[in-house]
Amino acid sequence: MDTSRMFEFPVKEFFKQPRSLFGAGAYEQAGPEAAQMGMRHVLFVTSGLRGTGIIDECRSNFENAGVSVTVYDEVESNPKDFQVMNAYSRFTEAECDGFVSIGGGSSHDTAKSAKVVAAHDGRNVNEFQGVNQTERLDTPPLIAINTTVGTGAETTPAVVVTDLSSPERPHKWVGFDTAFTSTLAINDPVLCMTQPPEFVAFTGFDTLAHGMEAYVGRVQHLSCTPLALKAVEMVQSNLREATYNPNNYKAMEAMTWAQYIAAQAFSSALLGIMHSLSHAVCAYYDIHHGLNNGIGLARVMTFNQPATPERYADIATAMGEDTRGLNPAQAADKAIDAVIRLARDCGIPDNFSEVDPNYAKSEMGKGEFYENRPTKIESDDAELQAMAEHVMEDVCTPGNPRDLTVEAAKEILRDCVYDPMVRKTTNGYRQNIWGVSPAMGRETHGYSARGSQGEGRQPTQEPVDS
Ligand SMILES: [Fe+2]
Repeated sequence: MDTSRMFEFPVKEFFKQPRSLFGAGAYEQAGPEAAQMGMRHVLFVTSGLRGTGIIDECRSNFENAGVSVTVYDEVESNPKDFQVMNAYSRFTEAECDGFVSIGGGSSHDTAKSAKVVAAHDGRNVNEFQGVNQTERLDTPPLIAINTTVGTGAETTPAVVVTDLSSPERPHKWVGFDTAFTSTLAINDPVLCMTQPPEFVAFTGFDTLAHGMEAYVGRVQHLSCTPLALKAVEMVQSNLREATYNPNNYKAMEAMTWAQYIAAQAFSSALLGIMHSLSHAVCAYYDIHHGLNNGIGLARVMTFNQPATPERYADIATAMGEDTRGLNPAQAADKAIDAVIRLARDCGIPDNFSEVDPNYAKSEMGKGEFYENRPTKIESDDAELQAMAEHVMEDVCTPGNPRDLTVEAAKEILRDCVYDPMVRKTTNGYRQNIWGVSPAMGRETHGYSARGSQGEGRQPTQEPVDS
Protein backbone atom coordinates (compact mmCIF):
# COMPACT_ATOMS: atom_id res chain seq x y z
CA MET A 1 0.00 0.00 0.00
CA ASP A 2 1.45 3.32 -1.06
CA THR A 3 0.37 5.34 1.96
CA SER A 4 2.79 8.08 0.98
CA ARG A 5 0.09 9.21 -1.43
CA MET A 6 -2.29 9.74 1.49
CA PHE A 7 -0.10 11.05 4.31
CA GLU A 8 3.04 13.07 4.72
CA PHE A 9 5.81 10.97 6.22
CA PRO A 10 3.38 8.07 6.83
CA VAL A 11 6.03 5.98 8.57
CA LYS A 12 8.04 7.96 11.08
CA GLU A 13 11.40 6.62 12.16
CA PHE A 14 12.80 7.17 15.62
CA PHE A 15 16.57 7.42 15.57
CA LYS A 16 18.02 6.10 18.78
CA GLN A 17 20.42 8.42 20.47
CA PRO A 18 23.83 7.25 21.62
CA ARG A 19 24.72 6.78 25.27
CA SER A 20 25.67 10.16 26.69
CA LEU A 21 27.17 11.91 29.69
CA PHE A 22 26.09 15.42 30.66
CA GLY A 23 27.43 17.73 33.34
CA ALA A 24 30.37 19.63 34.76
CA GLY A 25 33.44 17.43 34.65
CA ALA A 26 31.89 14.92 32.25
CA TYR A 27 34.72 15.30 29.75
CA GLU A 28 37.21 13.93 32.29
CA GLN A 29 35.50 10.56 31.96
CA ALA A 30 36.32 10.35 28.24
CA GLY A 31 39.74 8.71 28.60
CA PRO A 32 38.63 6.02 31.07
CA GLU A 33 35.55 5.39 28.93
CA ALA A 34 37.75 4.91 25.86
CA ALA A 35 39.93 2.44 27.75
CA GLN A 36 36.85 0.57 28.91
CA MET A 37 35.65 0.33 25.31
CA GLY A 38 38.94 -1.33 24.41
CA MET A 39 40.49 1.58 22.55
CA ARG A 40 44.28 1.65 22.63
CA HIS A 41 45.11 4.45 20.19
CA VAL A 42 42.64 7.14 19.22
CA LEU A 43 42.59 9.92 16.67
CA PHE A 44 41.54 13.30 18.04
CA VAL A 45 39.57 15.13 15.33
CA THR A 46 39.34 18.83 16.06
CA SER A 47 39.84 22.37 14.81
CA GLY A 48 42.50 22.70 17.51
CA LEU A 49 40.50 24.87 19.92
CA ARG A 50 43.63 26.95 20.21
CA GLY A 51 43.92 29.13 23.27
CA THR A 52 41.56 27.02 25.37
CA GLY A 53 43.94 24.27 26.54
CA ILE A 54 41.17 21.72 25.99
CA ILE A 55 43.11 19.51 23.58
CA ASP A 56 46.13 19.25 25.91
CA GLU A 57 43.85 18.46 28.83
CA CYS A 58 42.04 15.78 26.88
CA ARG A 59 45.32 14.29 25.66
CA SER A 60 46.53 13.95 29.27
CA ASN A 61 43.20 12.48 30.25
CA PHE A 62 43.44 9.77 27.59
CA GLU A 63 47.12 9.03 28.12
CA ASN A 64 46.60 8.72 31.85
CA ALA A 65 43.99 6.08 31.04
CA GLY A 66 46.51 4.18 28.93
CA VAL A 67 45.15 5.32 25.55
CA SER A 68 47.61 6.76 22.99
CA VAL A 69 46.62 9.85 21.04
CA THR A 70 47.26 11.12 17.50
CA VAL A 71 45.80 14.50 16.62
CA TYR A 72 44.19 15.70 13.39
CA ASP A 73 43.54 19.40 14.06
CA GLU A 74 42.83 20.78 10.61
CA VAL A 75 39.03 20.73 10.73
CA GLU A 76 37.43 23.96 9.54
CA SER A 77 33.99 25.41 9.96
CA ASN A 78 31.74 23.74 7.34
CA PRO A 79 33.98 20.64 7.04
CA LYS A 80 35.14 19.89 3.52
CA ASP A 81 35.30 16.50 1.82
CA PHE A 82 39.11 16.53 1.66
CA GLN A 83 39.33 17.17 5.41
CA VAL A 84 37.25 14.04 6.06
CA MET A 85 39.50 12.03 3.78
CA ASN A 86 42.64 13.49 5.40
CA ALA A 87 41.33 12.57 8.86
CA TYR A 88 40.64 9.04 7.59
CA SER A 89 44.21 8.83 6.18
CA ARG A 90 45.66 9.97 9.49
CA PHE A 91 43.53 7.35 11.26
CA THR A 92 44.83 4.51 9.10
CA GLU A 93 48.46 5.69 8.98
CA ALA A 94 48.62 5.92 12.77
CA GLU A 95 46.83 2.55 13.07
CA CYS A 96 44.22 4.01 15.39
CA ASP A 97 41.30 1.96 16.67
CA GLY A 98 38.88 4.73 17.58
CA PHE A 99 37.93 8.35 16.98
CA VAL A 100 37.48 11.18 19.48
CA SER A 101 35.95 14.41 18.15
CA ILE A 102 36.50 17.49 20.29
CA GLY A 103 34.73 20.73 19.39
CA GLY A 104 31.49 21.68 17.70
CA GLY A 105 29.56 20.27 14.79
CA SER A 106 32.39 20.55 12.29
CA SER A 107 34.71 18.35 14.33
CA HIS A 108 31.97 15.83 15.09
CA ASP A 109 30.80 15.67 11.48
CA THR A 110 34.35 15.16 10.23
CA ALA A 111 34.93 12.28 12.66
CA LYS A 112 31.48 10.78 12.04
CA SER A 113 32.12 10.86 8.31
CA ALA A 114 35.68 9.56 8.61
CA LYS A 115 34.54 6.53 10.62
CA VAL A 116 32.01 5.68 7.91
CA VAL A 117 34.76 6.04 5.29
CA ALA A 118 36.94 3.75 7.43
CA ALA A 119 34.18 1.13 7.52
CA HIS A 120 33.94 1.25 3.71
CA ASP A 121 37.62 0.74 2.89
CA GLY A 122 38.35 4.39 2.19
CA ARG A 123 35.59 5.11 -0.30
CA ASN A 124 35.09 8.82 -1.02
CA VAL A 125 32.91 10.47 1.61
CA ASN A 126 30.76 12.14 -1.05
CA GLU A 127 29.32 8.70 -1.86
CA PHE A 128 27.43 8.73 1.43
CA GLN A 129 25.27 11.83 0.94
CA GLY A 130 21.55 11.37 1.35
CA VAL A 131 19.53 9.09 3.56
CA ASN A 132 20.79 5.63 4.53
CA GLN A 133 23.49 5.35 1.89
CA THR A 134 25.99 3.36 3.93
CA GLU A 135 26.36 -0.39 3.62
CA ARG A 136 27.97 -1.15 6.95
CA LEU A 137 27.12 -0.19 10.51
CA ASP A 138 30.30 -1.68 12.05
CA THR A 139 32.22 1.58 12.10
CA PRO A 140 35.12 2.29 14.47
CA PRO A 141 33.94 3.66 17.84
CA LEU A 142 33.64 7.42 18.32
CA ILE A 143 33.54 9.48 21.50
CA ALA A 144 32.19 12.97 20.71
CA ILE A 145 33.16 15.65 23.24
CA ASN A 146 31.06 18.74 22.58
CA THR A 147 32.19 22.32 23.21
CA THR A 148 29.46 24.45 21.60
CA VAL A 149 25.76 25.15 22.19
CA GLY A 150 24.69 24.59 18.61
CA THR A 151 24.64 21.61 16.34
CA GLY A 152 23.98 18.69 18.64
CA ALA A 153 26.13 16.72 16.22
CA GLU A 154 27.60 14.75 19.11
CA THR A 155 24.33 12.81 19.27
CA THR A 156 22.69 12.96 15.85
CA PRO A 157 22.73 10.48 12.94
CA ALA A 158 23.37 13.42 10.57
CA VAL A 159 26.50 14.87 8.99
CA VAL A 160 26.88 17.89 6.75
CA VAL A 161 29.89 17.93 4.43
CA THR A 162 30.92 20.36 1.70
CA ASP A 163 31.79 18.71 -1.60
CA LEU A 164 34.61 20.68 -3.20
CA SER A 165 35.91 17.97 -5.52
CA SER A 166 33.06 16.90 -7.80
CA PRO A 167 31.80 18.84 -10.83
CA GLU A 168 28.77 19.87 -8.73
CA ARG A 169 30.89 21.92 -6.36
CA PRO A 170 30.30 23.84 -4.25
CA HIS A 171 27.71 21.52 -2.80
CA LYS A 172 27.01 21.17 0.90
CA TRP A 173 25.22 17.89 1.43
CA VAL A 174 23.53 16.13 4.32
CA GLY A 175 24.06 12.51 5.18
CA PHE A 176 21.52 10.85 7.44
CA ASP A 177 22.27 7.34 8.60
CA THR A 178 22.59 5.39 11.85
CA ALA A 179 26.16 4.57 10.83
CA PHE A 180 27.16 8.19 11.45
CA THR A 181 26.01 8.16 15.08
CA SER A 182 28.67 8.41 17.77
CA THR A 183 29.23 5.69 20.35
CA LEU A 184 29.33 8.03 23.34
CA ALA A 185 28.36 11.72 23.45
CA ILE A 186 29.78 13.99 26.14
CA ASN A 187 28.34 17.40 26.98
CA ASP A 188 30.19 19.41 29.58
CA PRO A 189 28.87 22.99 29.97
CA VAL A 190 32.24 24.04 31.39
CA LEU A 191 33.83 23.42 27.98
CA CYS A 192 31.11 25.49 26.31
CA MET A 193 32.13 28.45 28.49
CA THR A 194 35.31 28.76 26.40
CA GLN A 195 33.39 29.87 23.28
CA PRO A 196 33.83 33.41 21.92
CA PRO A 197 30.66 35.46 22.62
CA GLU A 198 29.56 35.66 19.00
CA PHE A 199 29.92 31.90 18.74
CA VAL A 200 27.50 31.50 21.62
CA ALA A 201 25.03 33.70 19.75
CA PHE A 202 25.55 31.96 16.39
CA THR A 203 25.36 28.43 17.75
CA GLY A 204 22.42 29.41 19.96
CA PHE A 205 20.49 30.37 16.84
CA ASP A 206 21.32 26.99 15.35
CA THR A 207 19.71 25.41 18.39
CA LEU A 208 16.70 27.71 18.04
CA ALA A 209 16.36 26.70 14.38
CA HIS A 210 16.58 23.00 15.30
CA GLY A 211 13.87 23.28 17.91
CA MET A 212 11.63 25.38 15.73
CA GLU A 213 11.97 23.35 12.53
CA ALA A 214 11.42 20.08 14.40
CA TYR A 215 8.31 21.53 16.04
CA VAL A 216 6.60 23.02 12.98
CA GLY A 217 7.74 20.50 10.36
CA ARG A 218 5.77 17.91 8.46
CA VAL A 219 7.02 14.83 10.27
CA GLN A 220 5.41 15.62 13.64
CA HIS A 221 7.06 12.83 15.59
CA LEU A 222 5.30 13.06 18.95
CA SER A 223 8.26 11.83 20.98
CA CYS A 224 10.14 14.87 19.70
CA THR A 225 7.76 17.82 19.65
CA PRO A 226 7.78 18.47 23.43
CA LEU A 227 11.58 18.48 23.41
CA ALA A 228 11.65 20.81 20.43
CA LEU A 229 9.36 23.34 22.12
CA LYS A 230 11.31 23.12 25.37
CA ALA A 231 14.52 23.88 23.49
CA VAL A 232 12.94 27.02 22.01
CA GLU A 233 11.88 28.14 25.48
CA MET A 234 15.35 27.53 26.91
CA VAL A 235 17.07 29.49 24.14
CA GLN A 236 14.72 32.42 24.64
CA SER A 237 15.39 32.40 28.38
CA ASN A 238 19.16 31.92 28.31
CA LEU A 239 20.82 32.93 25.05
CA ARG A 240 21.24 36.61 25.89
CA GLU A 241 22.83 35.83 29.24
CA ALA A 242 25.06 33.08 27.81
CA THR A 243 26.19 35.38 24.99
CA TYR A 244 27.14 38.34 27.11
CA ASN A 245 28.14 36.49 30.30
CA PRO A 246 29.56 33.16 29.11
CA ASN A 247 30.95 32.58 32.60
CA ASN A 248 27.41 32.28 33.92
CA TYR A 249 27.39 28.52 34.40
CA LYS A 250 23.62 28.22 34.83
CA ALA A 251 22.93 30.03 31.55
CA MET A 252 25.52 27.97 29.67
CA GLU A 253 24.26 24.76 31.21
CA ALA A 254 20.74 25.63 30.05
CA MET A 255 21.99 26.37 26.55
CA THR A 256 23.91 23.09 26.52
CA TRP A 257 20.74 21.24 27.50
CA ALA A 258 18.84 23.15 24.82
CA GLN A 259 21.24 22.18 22.07
CA TYR A 260 21.23 18.58 23.29
CA ILE A 261 17.46 18.14 23.39
CA ALA A 262 16.89 20.10 20.18
CA ALA A 263 19.23 17.69 18.42
CA GLN A 264 17.33 14.73 19.82
CA ALA A 265 14.16 16.30 18.47
CA PHE A 266 15.35 16.90 14.95
CA SER A 267 17.08 13.53 14.69
CA SER A 268 13.62 12.01 14.26
CA ALA A 269 11.38 15.01 13.47
CA LEU A 270 13.82 16.32 10.83
CA LEU A 271 14.31 19.93 9.76
CA GLY A 272 13.11 22.37 7.12
CA ILE A 273 14.18 25.03 4.65
CA MET A 274 16.02 27.15 7.22
CA HIS A 275 18.66 24.45 7.08
CA SER A 276 18.37 24.02 3.32
CA LEU A 277 19.00 27.73 2.90
CA SER A 278 21.87 27.70 5.35
CA HIS A 279 23.56 24.81 3.54
CA ALA A 280 23.34 26.67 0.24
CA VAL A 281 24.83 29.91 1.56
CA CYS A 282 27.55 28.00 3.42
CA ALA A 283 28.44 26.15 0.22
CA TYR A 284 28.98 29.42 -1.63
CA TYR A 285 30.51 31.56 1.13
CA ASP A 286 31.83 29.27 3.88
CA ILE A 287 29.95 31.37 6.42
CA HIS A 288 29.11 30.08 9.90
CA HIS A 289 26.03 27.85 9.91
CA GLY A 290 24.57 29.39 13.06
CA LEU A 291 25.08 32.91 11.73
CA ASN A 292 23.13 31.84 8.64
CA ASN A 293 20.31 30.68 10.83
CA GLY A 294 20.33 33.86 12.88
CA ILE A 295 19.86 35.92 9.71
CA GLY A 296 17.42 33.60 8.00
CA LEU A 297 15.13 32.30 10.72
CA ALA A 298 12.66 35.19 10.86
CA ARG A 299 12.39 35.14 7.05
CA VAL A 300 11.72 31.42 6.95
CA MET A 301 9.13 31.78 9.73
CA THR A 302 7.43 34.49 7.70
CA PHE A 303 7.25 32.21 4.67
CA ASN A 304 6.11 29.18 6.65
CA GLN A 305 3.64 30.88 8.97
CA PRO A 306 0.56 30.52 6.71
CA ALA A 307 1.11 26.76 6.53
CA THR A 308 1.05 26.20 10.28
CA PRO A 309 0.01 29.27 12.31
CA GLU A 310 -1.11 27.21 15.31
CA ARG A 311 2.34 25.73 15.79
CA TYR A 312 4.00 29.11 15.43
CA ALA A 313 1.52 30.39 18.01
CA ASP A 314 2.91 27.73 20.36
CA ILE A 315 6.39 28.98 19.49
CA ALA A 316 5.31 32.50 20.46
CA THR A 317 4.24 31.26 23.87
CA ALA A 318 7.52 29.38 24.26
CA MET A 319 9.31 32.60 23.35
CA GLY A 320 7.60 34.31 26.28
CA GLU A 321 5.08 36.32 24.27
CA ASP A 322 1.67 37.19 25.72
CA THR A 323 -0.77 35.78 23.16
CA ARG A 324 -3.96 36.06 25.20
CA GLY A 325 -6.88 37.19 23.05
CA LEU A 326 -5.02 36.66 19.78
CA ASN A 327 -5.95 34.27 17.03
CA PRO A 328 -3.24 31.79 15.92
CA ALA A 329 -2.05 33.91 13.00
CA GLN A 330 -1.71 37.01 15.20
CA ALA A 331 0.07 35.00 17.86
CA ALA A 332 2.39 33.49 15.24
CA ASP A 333 3.39 36.99 14.18
CA LYS A 334 4.53 37.58 17.74
CA ALA A 335 6.88 34.61 17.42
CA ILE A 336 8.53 36.29 14.43
CA ASP A 337 8.87 39.54 16.36
CA ALA A 338 10.43 37.70 19.29
CA VAL A 339 13.01 36.03 17.05
CA ILE A 340 13.95 39.36 15.44
CA ARG A 341 14.32 40.91 18.91
CA LEU A 342 16.53 38.05 20.07
CA ALA A 343 18.67 38.30 16.93
CA ARG A 344 19.17 42.02 17.44
CA ASP A 345 19.94 41.58 21.13
CA CYS A 346 22.57 38.95 20.32
CA GLY A 347 24.30 40.98 17.62
CA ILE A 348 23.07 39.07 14.57
CA PRO A 349 23.44 41.28 11.45
CA ASP A 350 20.34 42.46 9.62
CA ASN A 351 21.25 40.57 6.46
CA PHE A 352 24.11 38.76 4.72
CA SER A 353 25.52 41.85 3.02
CA GLU A 354 26.16 43.35 6.46
CA VAL A 355 28.14 40.38 7.77
CA ASP A 356 31.61 41.36 8.94
CA PRO A 357 33.78 38.50 7.64
CA ASN A 358 36.19 38.97 10.56
CA TYR A 359 34.03 37.37 13.22
CA ALA A 360 35.76 34.92 15.55
CA LYS A 361 37.12 31.81 13.80
CA SER A 362 35.75 33.02 10.47
CA GLU A 363 36.76 30.96 7.45
CA MET A 364 35.21 33.36 4.94
CA GLY A 365 37.63 34.13 2.13
CA LYS A 366 40.10 31.50 3.29
CA GLY A 367 40.79 27.96 2.18
CA GLU A 368 41.76 26.75 -1.27
CA PHE A 369 38.30 26.94 -2.82
CA TYR A 370 37.15 30.11 -1.09
CA GLU A 371 40.23 32.31 -1.33
CA ASN A 372 39.04 33.85 -4.59
CA ARG A 373 35.48 34.25 -3.38
CA PRO A 374 34.25 37.66 -2.21
CA THR A 375 33.87 38.05 1.53
CA LYS A 376 31.08 40.56 1.17
CA ILE A 377 27.90 38.76 0.23
CA GLU A 378 26.24 40.64 -2.62
CA SER A 379 24.74 37.86 -4.69
CA ASP A 380 23.63 38.68 -8.22
CA ASP A 381 20.62 37.10 -9.87
CA ALA A 382 22.55 34.13 -11.24
CA GLU A 383 24.03 33.29 -7.85
CA LEU A 384 20.66 33.66 -6.12
CA GLN A 385 19.24 31.27 -8.72
CA ALA A 386 22.06 28.75 -8.15
CA MET A 387 21.65 28.91 -4.39
CA ALA A 388 17.86 28.58 -4.72
CA GLU A 389 18.32 25.39 -6.75
CA HIS A 390 20.72 24.14 -4.06
CA VAL A 391 17.95 24.80 -1.50
CA MET A 392 15.41 22.83 -3.55
CA GLU A 393 17.65 19.76 -3.67
CA ASP A 394 18.46 19.72 0.03
CA VAL A 395 17.47 16.69 2.12
CA CYS A 396 15.84 19.03 4.67
CA THR A 397 13.40 20.63 2.21
CA PRO A 398 10.69 17.92 2.20
CA GLY A 399 10.23 18.28 5.97
CA ASN A 400 9.30 21.94 5.67
CA PRO A 401 5.68 22.74 6.56
CA ARG A 402 5.12 24.77 3.40
CA ASP A 403 5.87 23.70 -0.17
CA LEU A 404 8.67 25.59 -1.77
CA THR A 405 9.25 26.74 -5.32
CA VAL A 406 12.60 27.76 -6.69
CA GLU A 407 11.23 31.29 -7.16
CA ALA A 408 10.19 31.47 -3.52
CA ALA A 409 13.56 30.12 -2.39
CA LYS A 410 15.27 32.75 -4.50
CA GLU A 411 13.17 35.54 -3.04
CA ILE A 412 13.79 34.40 0.53
CA LEU A 413 17.51 34.36 -0.24
CA ARG A 414 17.36 37.83 -1.81
CA ASP A 415 15.58 39.12 1.27
CA CYS A 416 18.26 37.55 3.48
CA VAL A 417 21.07 39.12 1.46
CA TYR A 418 19.78 42.67 1.08
CA ASP A 419 16.70 43.58 3.10
CA PRO A 420 16.39 44.67 6.74
CA MET A 421 15.24 42.04 9.21
CA VAL A 422 11.69 43.19 9.79
CA ARG A 423 8.39 41.37 9.87
CA LYS A 424 6.85 41.95 6.46
CA THR A 425 3.62 40.44 7.57
CA THR A 426 0.71 42.75 7.96
CA ASN A 427 -2.76 42.28 6.59
CA GLY A 428 -3.11 39.76 3.82
CA TYR A 429 0.53 38.77 3.75
CA ARG A 430 -0.29 35.09 3.82
CA GLN A 431 -1.17 34.89 0.16
CA ASN A 432 1.87 36.06 -1.62
CA ILE A 433 4.55 37.66 0.48
CA TRP A 434 7.41 36.59 -1.76
CA GLY A 435 5.89 37.73 -5.01
CA VAL A 436 5.20 34.21 -6.20
CA SER A 437 2.16 32.04 -6.31
CA PRO A 438 2.02 29.89 -3.20
CA ALA A 439 2.33 26.19 -3.98
CA MET A 440 -1.13 25.39 -2.81
CA GLY A 441 -3.10 22.19 -3.12
CA ARG A 442 -0.51 19.48 -3.40
CA GLU A 443 -2.00 16.65 -5.40
CA THR A 444 0.01 13.87 -3.83
CA HIS A 445 2.36 13.34 -0.93
CA GLY A 446 5.58 11.39 -0.61
CA TYR A 447 7.65 13.88 -2.53
CA SER A 448 11.37 14.16 -2.73
CA ALA A 449 13.10 17.50 -3.14
CA ARG A 450 14.62 18.15 -6.55
CA GLY A 451 15.95 21.14 -8.33
CA SER A 452 13.16 22.27 -10.56
CA GLN A 453 12.46 25.45 -12.38
CA GLY A 454 9.52 26.44 -10.30
CA GLU A 455 7.78 23.10 -10.52
CA GLY A 456 8.05 22.41 -6.82
CA ARG A 457 8.68 18.91 -5.70
CA GLN A 458 8.07 15.91 -7.85
CA PRO A 459 6.68 12.51 -6.80
CA THR A 460 9.39 10.03 -5.87
CA GLN A 461 7.83 7.49 -8.16
CA GLU A 462 5.04 7.16 -10.60
CA PRO A 463 1.88 5.55 -9.25
CA VAL A 464 1.73 1.84 -9.94
CA ASP A 465 -1.16 0.69 -12.08
CA SER A 466 -3.30 -1.79 -10.29
FE1 LIG B 1 21.82 23.29 12.34
